[in-house]
Amino acid sequence: MPKIKDITCQKILNSRGDWTIETKVVLDDGSEGIQAIPDGASKGENEAIYIPVDKAVDIVSSAIRDVLEGENPYEQAAIDRVLIEMDGTPNKKHLGGNSILSVSLATAKASAKSQGLELYEYLAWLFSHKRAVSTSLKFPTPIFNILNGGLHAHNNLSFQEFMVIPSAKMTFDKGLELGVKVYHNLKDDLIKDGCDVDVGDEGGFAPNGFTIAKALRYISSAASRSFKLGDQVFIGLDVAAGSFYKKGIYQILEDGLVLEDEELERMYVGILSNYPLIYIEDPFYEGNVQSWQEFTRKLGSKLMIVADDLVVTNPKFLKNVVNRKLANAVIVKPNQVGTLTETFEFIRDAQDAGMKIIVSHRSGETGEDTFIADLAVAVGADFIKSGAPVRGERVVKYNRLLQIYNEKGK
Ligand code: PGA
Ligand code: ZN
Repeated sequence: MPKIKDITCQKILNSRGDWTIETKVVLDDGSEGIQAIPDGASKGENEAIYIPVDKAVDIVSSAIRDVLEGENPYEQAAIDRVLIEMDGTPNKKHLGGNSILSVSLATAKASAKSQGLELYEYLAWLFSHKRAVSTSLKFPTPIFNILNGGLHAHNNLSFQEFMVIPSAKMTFDKGLELGVKVYHNLKDDLIKDGCDVDVGDEGGFAPNGFTIAKALRYISSAASRSFKLGDQVFIGLDVAAGSFYKKGIYQILEDGLVLEDEELERMYVGILSNYPLIYIEDPFYEGNVQSWQEFTRKLGSKLMIVADDLVVTNPKFLKNVVNRKLANAVIVKPNQVGTLTETFEFIRDAQDAGMKIIVSHRSGETGEDTFIADLAVAVGADFIKSGAPVRGERVVKYNRLLQIYNEKGK
C-alpha cells in the first residue's frame, strides 16, 4: 500500500479573479493528485465555511499535512474522518471547508493515479463501497445556463439562471451539440435586436433591461429555431430565490413586483402553462419550508423541483427534505459539504429516496478543474450543470465528459 508522503498548498486565481487554493497530495510511489477549490456567489446558509486563503494554505501545508503524512490514501473514508474530527465543527469553520475539500479530493486523485485508473473509475469504485463496478457508464444530461441574472451578472434580472435542457433520450454528444447550437442562436438573436452580449459568471448572456418573460421568450425562441421545443429541448430555471428575498418578500424589481410565496408560486404555474418547463431550482428561500412542501405536493409529478441551498450536499439536511417531501431532485456540489465521503453519502441517500441527482459547478471555478465531470459519471448522475458551453472553466468539464464518452460511452 502506498502512503501519503507530502501535502503542499498554494494560492491561485479563480474565474472571477478571486484567490482560492490548490492542493497537491504526493504519495510515496510517486503518484500525485492536484485539486483546486471552486467558490459560489449565491450560497446556502448551511454550507461549509471557507476560511481566508492564506490561512487555508497554512493549515493544509502544516497541520493537515502533519496528521496525514504516512496514512494510506486508499482509505478515503478514514482520511475524511480524520479531517472531520480534526476540524470538530458542524460547518468545518475551524480548518475550513476549502482546506478540507482540497485534501480530500486531491487524495482521491493521487490514489486513482497510483492504481492506474481513470478518476471516474476510481470514484465509482469508492462510491460502490469498493465493490465491482458495472462496465456500462451512464452519462449525465447537460443543463446549459445560457442567460444569466441574479448574483452572477450585473444586469437587472432577479432569476439567476435561464437554462435549456436536451431530452434525456439524447446521447451526451448530441446533447452537447444542442446546447452549443442554441447558445449561438441566442447570441445571433441578441445581436440582431441590438442587445448586449456580455456574459455572466457562468458564461450565459447577461443583457440589460430584460424581464423574466422576455428572457424566457428569447431562450425558447433560440431553442425552437433548431430543435423541437417540448420534445428535443426543454426549459429550466435556477431561480435562486434566496438572493432576492429581502425583508420577508421576493423583490422582482425588473417587473416592478414584490411577491409573497403564493404569488411567486402562481408565477411559476403561469410559466409552466406557457413553456415546456421541466426543472426549477431553489424556487423559494430555503427558510420557507412550507412553500417548498406545498409546491412539491402540487407540481412534483410534473416537474423537477430541485433543492440546492436547502440541502447543501449535506446528508443531515437531506433527511428533512426527504421526510417532509420538500423536493424531488437535489444539487450536488462537493464544496458545500467539504469531503468526498460526505458527498457520496449524500448522493446514495438521495438516490435511495428516488431523487434525481444534478452534479453542479460553482459560479467561481478554476480553469483546469474537471473533477465534477468524473464525479457525475462515477455516481451515475442524471444531470450535470456546468454553465454555458463557453468560457474555459465551463467547457473544460463538458470536454472531459466528451472525452470519456468518446472513449467509453459509445
Ligand atoms: P453559486 O451558484 O455557485 O454562485 O452558488 C450556483 C447555483 O446557485 O446553483
Ligand atoms: Zn442553485
